[in-house]
Amino acid sequence: MTNRYAVVLAAGQGTRMKSKLYKVLHPVCGKSMVEHVIDQVSALELHKIVTIIGFGAELVKSTLGDRSEYALQEEQLGTAHAVMQASPQLKQEKGTTLVICGDTPLITTETMEALLKHHEETNAKATILTAHAEDPTGYGRIIRQSNGDVKRIVEHKDASEEERTVKEINTGTYCFDNEALFQALDKVSNDNVQGEYYLPDVIEILKNEGETVSAFQTERFAETLGVNDRVALAQAEKTMRERINRQHMVNGVTIIDPSNTYISAETIIGSDTTILPGTTLLGKTEIGTDCIIGPNSEIKDCRIGNQTTIRQSVAHNSSIGSEVAIGPFAHIRPDSQISDEVKIGNFVEVKKASFGKGSKASHLSYIGDAKVGADVNLGCGSITVNYDGKRKFETIIEDGAFVGCNSNLIAPVTIGKNAYVAAGSTINNNVPEEALSIARARQTNKENYAKRLKSKE
Ligand code: UD1
Ligand code: MG
Repeated sequence: MTNRYAVVLAAGQGTRMKSKLYKVLHPVCGKSMVEHVIDQVSALELHKIVTIIGFGAELVKSTLGDRSEYALQEEQLGTAHAVMQASPQLKQEKGTTLVICGDTPLITTETMEALLKHHEETNAKATILTAHAEDPTGYGRIIRQSNGDVKRIVEHKDASEEERTVKEINTGTYCFDNEALFQALDKVSNDNVQGEYYLPDVIEILKNEGETVSAFQTERFAETLGVNDRVALAQAEKTMRERINRQHMVNGVTIIDPSNTYISAETIIGSDTTILPGTTLLGKTEIGTDCIIGPNSEIKDCRIGNQTTIRQSVAHNSSIGSEVAIGPFAHIRPDSQISDEVKIGNFVEVKKASFGKGSKASHLSYIGDAKVGADVNLGCGSITVNYDGKRKFETIIEDGAFVGCNSNLIAPVTIGKNAYVAAGSTINNNVPEEALSIARARQTNKENYAKRLKSKE
């Protein structure tokens, strides 16, 4: 089999994005565009992948890690110049080289595989992946000869009025015979409107040398979207979102309103889980089976067990067990561990706290910097007083403890096993195991006070 290589172009700044963030690092459904491309390219099992980096080189490198080799393009002189930077890694090689832009996040392995197959079967020196675009504005156009053969690609900015009416576009993905590619790159000039060395010019160069160049038109135009500005970014996001949601549904997840459900590329969801409208699942979130999530919940980087319900709530960077009930209107802040069968109810905020199995904070509480054991009941309005304005302190509530309503637990403090805290207490000393602590003013009733007051008046 022919050796296969890939060059991913990712050195550009992306001026049209008008952003501090380099273009290929802009996320689509939570994953950077260039990562989407590398993920799909990696599945092709190539001999070598070389990513061309320039703007944000170190960031792109740390994003992709060892999934690619790198070549630095110090000055962004155009896409042909970018590919040339891979000479040290590729120039000597024999085989097929796939070139793909880092700003086409929707392209799939299947489409690239079909392109490679077509290229190798037709024995062409170059094959362009093309698509029919209803609105081809901005793309390079495929100019064909009268016999239908590809003649050249003309960039939108360089195209004549007539050429601009062509709706067959260059998707920016190509296959080349590696040796033909590198010898042609040397001949590319920058005599064009943008003063850049255009990779598409290689097509005309090879054609003029009498080589076979061909085009492979994909039916899947949506996959070929090149993201140059935020409008296209939103389009890519929408298409990717539909693709992700569809895959979850195929896998057995119920999504009540897919057009209103936002799931990151790296989220994993078990079967028979239902995602209700307005829900956003971000980062590397993992949700088990038979859960109900939403409506209107935001979950980021959480691991959630099975048969758990999270309603109208926010949870970040935490682990949440099975058969847990959260919400409505709860906030689970980072570094929290919620064990199985826990209940975190309305208007409860949890921060950097662990809850043992079966514990409950059902209403209106703040539990921060705390270790809550198993089968603990935190009554309505239980508050951990964890902050003195400078430092944070820990509250420990041991198994089986019962904290009455509206109690302040001033940390550092420990409530012992099976201990009771009377409602309305402000606790600033440890409570021993099995004890009852009452820390509030004793009630005095003044008999007939109201009557006496009235008679005075
Ligand atoms: C490019 C193609 C165009 C095609 C379109 C498809 C050229 C000249 N034009 O246009 O025919 O229809 O893609 O989306 O190739 N890059 C570098 N170094 C550079 C310049 C660019 O690495 O010096 C990278 C960019 O980071 C980007 C990719 O190459 O990922 C494409 O560059 P971009 O400026 O987006 O080209 P388009 O104008 O979209
Ligand atoms: Mg582009």
